[in-house]
Amino acid sequence: MSNSPARTILGIESSCDETAVAVVRDGREVLSSVVHSQIQEHAAWGGVVPEIAGRSHLRAIRPALQTALEEAHLTAADIDAIAATCRPGLLGSLLIGVTAAKSLAWAWQKPLVGVHHIEAHVYAALMSLPEWQFPYITLVVSGGHTSLYRCDSPLKLEQLGCTRDDAAGEALDKAAAMLNLAYPGGPSIQKAGADGNPRGYTFKRPLLGPDSLEFSFSGMKTALLYKLKGPGGRREDPTLPESQNLPDMAASFEEAVAETLVKKSLRACQMTGIPRLLVGGGVACNQRLRKMMAARAPLQGVAAHFAAPEFCTDNAVMIAGLGYARLQAGLVDDLTLDVAAW
Ligand code: KG4
Ligand code: ZN
Repeated sequence: MSNSPARTILGIESSCDETAVAVVRDGREVLSSVVHSQIQEHAAWGGVVPEIAGRSHLRAIRPALQTALEEAHLTAADIDAIAATCRPGLLGSLLIGVTAAKSLAWAWQKPLVGVHHIEAHVYAALMSLPEWQFPYITLVVSGGHTSLYRCDSPLKLEQLGCTRDDAAGEALDKAAAMLNLAYPGGPSIQKAGADGNPRGYTFKRPLLGPDSLEFSFSGMKTALLYKLKGPGGRREDPTLPESQNLPDMAASFEEAVAETLVKKSLRACQMTGIPRLLVGGGVACNQRLRKMMAARAPLQGVAAHFAAPEFCTDNAVMIAGLGYARLQAGLVDDLTLDVAAW
């Protein structure tokens, strides 16, 4: 990294259902990381309710800011810049974090840096490496996104492919709901399928042609629904019948999602001739995905690295980290910084 003076960045993340604040020095050294999750507030609805999310961020943001500064043993005077996620995400949620960031930037007279949430997930994966050797292929796989990028620097990403329909995390969340498992679905399916047979049920891996780097998970979800509804889709109650085996069903669905992600990522490495792969985003926590990648990537000469589990799901360390990289590059925003859903 560069030899320029130390920079201590306060990062704020509020794009979905986590209110997170972190203090990171030089884009690497985590001085504090506070994550207030709203999972319990949304669980009864089986997914994130935007109105509940916005109100919850409003309640959580001030205590989170205070705790992050206290845990870092710093005061406003020690902070060099404020970074906040400005896109993509839920507008009402993004507005809370960006407005807090603007207020602090104005009150403390510090630079303001707007950060793209997906680029920050890539940065979280970069943080897992002691040294960077660009370019990388990067898979960002979360509840809202499933995309492959060529990454030439923390600030230079070129999208190679993305999902045509559901994100992988969204498919896992919806599959879990069909299986009567708790929200969020990814961890629930992982737990339910831990001792299951991943070949117990067949789910087609949608590879979409030999050169495609796009994804599609909606067919897998439909296949699960039909398995639950029985032959001809005649069962009225689309929950797991007694005759079906929940651990095998969860493991088989999870395996199909993981294998699709692994195959496409390694295909991207092969097609571009880039033998280094990074994986980030909430689904990158998944143990089956991690194990499968660890087993298959070396067979194709690919070195695969995952973001640290605590920085796979939404967090503000990755926001402060990317904020530092943007600040170093002179990419500073002003108080007109806006939010965007896309
Ligand atoms: O990155 P993230 O926190 O939020 C978004 O930007 O979307 O990702 C949340 C997603 C959810 O769909 C959740 O089910 C999934 O990540 N997830 C997992 C695991 N932990 C979280 N999926 C599979 N296995 C996990 N262990
Ligand atoms: Zn995310």
